Amino acid sequence: MENTMNGLLMALALLCLTINFREIAACISTERDALVAFNTSIKDPDGRLHSWHGENCCSWSGVSCSKKTGHVIKLDLGEYTLNGQINPSLSGLTRLVYLNLSQSDFGGVPIPEFIGCFKMLRYLDLSHAGFGGTVPPQLGNLSRLSFLDLSSSGSHVITADDFQWVSKLTSLRYLDLSWLYLAASVDWLQAVNMLHLLEVLRLNDASLPATDLNSVSQINFTALKVIDLKNNELNSSLPDWIWNLSSLSDLDLSSCELSGRIPDELGKLAALQFIGLGNNKLNGAIPRSMSRLCNLVHIDLSRNILSGNLSEAARSMFPCMKKLQILNLADNKLTGQLSGWCEHMASLEVLDLSENSLSGVLPTSISRLSNLTYLDISFNKLIGELSELHFTNLSRLDALVLASNSFKVVVKHSWFPPFQLTKLGLHGCLVGPQFPTWLQSQTRIKMIDLGSAGIRGALPDWIWNFSSPMASLNVSMNNITGELPASLVRSKMLITLNIRHNQLEGYIPDMPNSVRVLDLSHNNLSGSLPQSFGDKELQYLSLSHNSLSGVIPAYLCDIISMELIDISNNNLSGELPNCWRMNSSMYVIDFSSNNFWGEIPSTMGSLSSLTALHLSKNSLSGLLPTSLQSCKRLLVLDVGENNLSGYIPTWIGNGLQTLLLLILGSNQFSGEIPEELSQLHALQYLDLSNNKLSGSIPRSLGKLTSFLSRNLEWDSSPFFQFMVYGVGGAYFSVYKDTLQATFRGYRLTFVISFLLTSIDLSENHLTGEIPSEIGNLYRLASLNLSRNHIEGSIPETIGNLAWLESLDLSWNDLSGPIPQSMKSLLFLSFLNLSYNHLSGKIPYGNQLMTFEGDSFLGNEDLCGAPLTRSCHKDSDKHKHHEIFDTLTYMFTLLGFAFGFCTVSTTFIFSAASRRAYFQFTDNICNWLVAVLERKLSLIR
Ligand SMILES: *[C@@H]1O[C@H](CO)[C@@H](O)[C@H](O)[C@H]1NC(C)=O
Ligand SMILES: *[C@@H]1O[C@H](CO)[C@@H](O)[C@H](O)[C@H]1NC(C)=O
Ligand SMILES: *[C@@H]1O[C@H](CO)[C@@H](O)[C@H](O)[C@H]1NC(C)=O
Ligand SMILES: *[C@@H]1O[C@H](CO)[C@@H](O)[C@H](O)[C@H]1NC(C)=O
Ligand SMILES: *[C@@H]1O[C@H](CO)[C@@H](O)[C@H](O)[C@H]1NC(C)=O
Ligand SMILES: *[C@@H]1O[C@H](CO)[C@@H](O)[C@H](O)[C@H]1NC(C)=O
Repeated sequence: MENTMNGLLMALALLCLTINFREIAACISTERDALVAFNTSIKDPDGRLHSWHGENCCSWSGVSCSKKTGHVIKLDLGEYTLNGQINPSLSGLTRLVYLNLSQSDFGGVPIPEFIGCFKMLRYLDLSHAGFGGTVPPQLGNLSRLSFLDLSSSGSHVITADDFQWVSKLTSLRYLDLSWLYLAASVDWLQAVNMLHLLEVLRLNDASLPATDLNSVSQINFTALKVIDLKNNELNSSLPDWIWNLSSLSDLDLSSCELSGRIPDELGKLAALQFIGLGNNKLNGAIPRSMSRLCNLVHIDLSRNILSGNLSEAARSMFPCMKKLQILNLADNKLTGQLSGWCEHMASLEVLDLSENSLSGVLPTSISRLSNLTYLDISFNKLIGELSELHFTNLSRLDALVLASNSFKVVVKHSWFPPFQLTKLGLHGCLVGPQFPTWLQSQTRIKMIDLGSAGIRGALPDWIWNFSSPMASLNVSMNNITGELPASLVRSKMLITLNIRHNQLEGYIPDMPNSVRVLDLSHNNLSGSLPQSFGDKELQYLSLSHNSLSGVIPAYLCDIISMELIDISNNNLSGELPNCWRMNSSMYVIDFSSNNFWGEIPSTMGSLSSLTALHLSKNSLSGLLPTSLQSCKRLLVLDVGENNLSGYIPTWIGNGLQTLLLLILGSNQFSGEIPEELSQLHALQYLDLSNNKLSGSIPRSLGKLTSFLSRNLEWDSSPFFQFMVYGVGGAYFSVYKDTLQATFRGYRLTFVISFLLTSIDLSENHLTGEIPSEIGNLYRLASLNLSRNHIEGSIPETIGNLAWLESLDLSWNDLSGPIPQSMKSLLFLSFLNLSYNHLSGKIPYGNQLMTFEGDSFLGNEDLCGAPLTRSCHKDSDKHKHHEIFDTLTYMFTLLGFAFGFCTVSTTFIFSAASRRAYFQFTDNICNWLVAVLERKLSLIR
């Protein structure tokens, strides 16, 4: 029985063979020659073309012939990774229907023009094949082409001067020109509109020119199923024609600079499975009609300005959205609650609602979403307790990000979670006081963010001997005590360790080679710096505000990956190492507030990308090394409170053109103030106080351009803080450049982004008069010339300094009257003119009314309020004016505070720091409001 069966099968097989043999026509010899010529000039590193031997080219791999005519109709060399020359003889394959050369690497040569000769071609796939140059217009001759893919994301770029050739390809169903450079193709949309059979259109990241998508009204491409135009700056609104594409299943217009609303017509796209409109400027509400789109699998509307109540929209959505797997609405302005809808979207795998204004609790029913792998609801206004019940069925959960809400995590010690996370973000949630023991069960975890989580006591030992490949641990801003273990050096995967603002004690152990970000600042660590901070990986090192002692080891110079070192506010001593080398990555060095002595190392001049150098509050001596003039990117040069001497070098003005802050105060600098300083066109803060400077104040200071602007355009450039990637895409900043300054009589710490415009020349031996040009420095907020030997009168132009808040001219030899123009200094909140030889009546009105007698003490010939010494002549007639002035003043002030808070908020929110945990702008606004309130109460 079996034998007969076998025999039968054999016979069948033979029959098939003969049939096949008959049908394979012999290879046509001219076409074989063409292929041989192609084979000779092409290079084939993988040896895939070795099978190309024998007479019958139709049997060669990748080659297919027509059974009827014997012509080569298909050349499928995709995934063959060829390179070298494409021989033009290939054009001999005149009947070619299918050509696939994708995945090769032709090293940037243009697409061969002869491809335009393949009149029968229907499939042309040249994607990722390393072509460059301009698209040959001959491609437009391929009128039968149904499939065209030229997409290429490699190092070579294909450009097209126009889209004429596309408009002729009227048989196209599939067009992919992603990553081409199409900036000159202003006609792209009109050309695509000729393609009435088109089903797939992909122009991802193709540098398309700004295009009003509504500029076509009548559309031919009604068969479209896939539109992918993401990453082009179209600058358009959503076009009306989209809503008529009844077959559309994938719509991706992310990052297209789209504005306007999402209209209700969206509900007409019944076939839609994926809608990607993320990272645009769309506003208004999520249209209700979305609830009719029952086939949706993936919704991405993140990073827009969508508003309205999410729960209302979502409640109407869930009955039909049974297939929805990904819902990303992150970074919008949505309000509403999570209860009553999210638990019904049973297929959800990814839910990202972070950075909205959602309120209420996280319902325990969320645990029904058993397929959930990614949950990010960070940066909302959610509240309540989270317990085991929230997570019962979430066994697939991989990332859990709840940061920056008012959650309290209350789980039992013995809890054994059903999930194995890789990322956990609980920043700002109340997790403590105990370090969560359940984390011990998480053997896959890579990132833990437990910053500001109310944790007290020592870190458990197991956190350092984790079986998991932990890469990032953030337990900053807690009350963590104890010491760091010596075994830390064996945590071979650790990249980020952030324990800033705790109460760690003991010494700093050696660090593993993998560490790139190490922040142990604001603890009670002592002892000297460790033998090793790992190898060459470290980028960010902050150990400030501890009690570290000893010298700076020279190996710090060798860590060439380093971008920031902050070891300020310790007890470190000795000379600074003079081993710095050409290093393109160092941005910030902060050695301030230690006991360093000796000279500033001249090799620091080789740190060419340095933007901030803080060496203040040490005992450094000698001259400023001339090599520093090579640090052309310096924004901050802060060497105040040392024993530096010599003249203020002229190269500061000539060479350090980007300087914003120059702090040379409290040193032994002598000589005159160089005229060249006025060339620092970005300078906003100049402190030369408490030195031995002599001569007069240069008139050229009145040319400092950054002080000249009359409008309230705040420059965002001084803002630099170091950002580190946290869990779930959140950034946290670990370093902010700050500055100690005496301002309005108080010692304050400012974040440098705060625009403090100040000139302080106090406590020197300056003589001569105050140049009237000082009145040009319109944006100046603080001017201190006190304790010098300045003579002459206060220039009338001082009244032009409209933003002046603090003015100190005390202890000089000024004479003459106080200029009336000072009444227009509406923001003045600190004034000291005491101990001069000023005379006459103190101008009265506006802000000047708010100062007490001490502002004017020690001027024998001054009279009038607030001094008790009267001027004999009364001035009641001014009363009316005063009330008027006060009103103007209040309005201006309100305008100022409003303007500042708005501007700085915009600025913060447009920077990459949108998720910064330290939102100090609020503080500045609060401060401003406080100042405002104080001033208003003074006036009342
Ligand atoms: C094609 O080239 C390969 C080597 O690159 C060679 O082994 C093969 O014999 C060639 N085939 C023909 C038909 O020339
Ligand atoms: C071309 O070849 C690649 C690699 O094998 C394949 O992925 C692609 O689908 C092919 N293109 C066409 C149009 O068949
Ligand atoms: C093919 O295209 C080119 C350039 O667009 C054109 O000059 C030529 O006449 C077209 N026709 C043929 C048959 O090559
Ligand atoms: C639609 O396509 C045809 C040819 O395919 C063309 O003649 C017509 O102008 C196109 N319509 C629009 C509105 O572009
Ligand atoms: C969860 O995912 C599995 C496949 O991964 C799928 O079979 C199942 O239907 C999903 N559950 C729901 C409720 O969609
Ligand atoms: C640390 O504890 C002190 C006192 O117990 C408390 O005032 C402080 O807020 C705590 N700090 C943090 C970051 O929890």
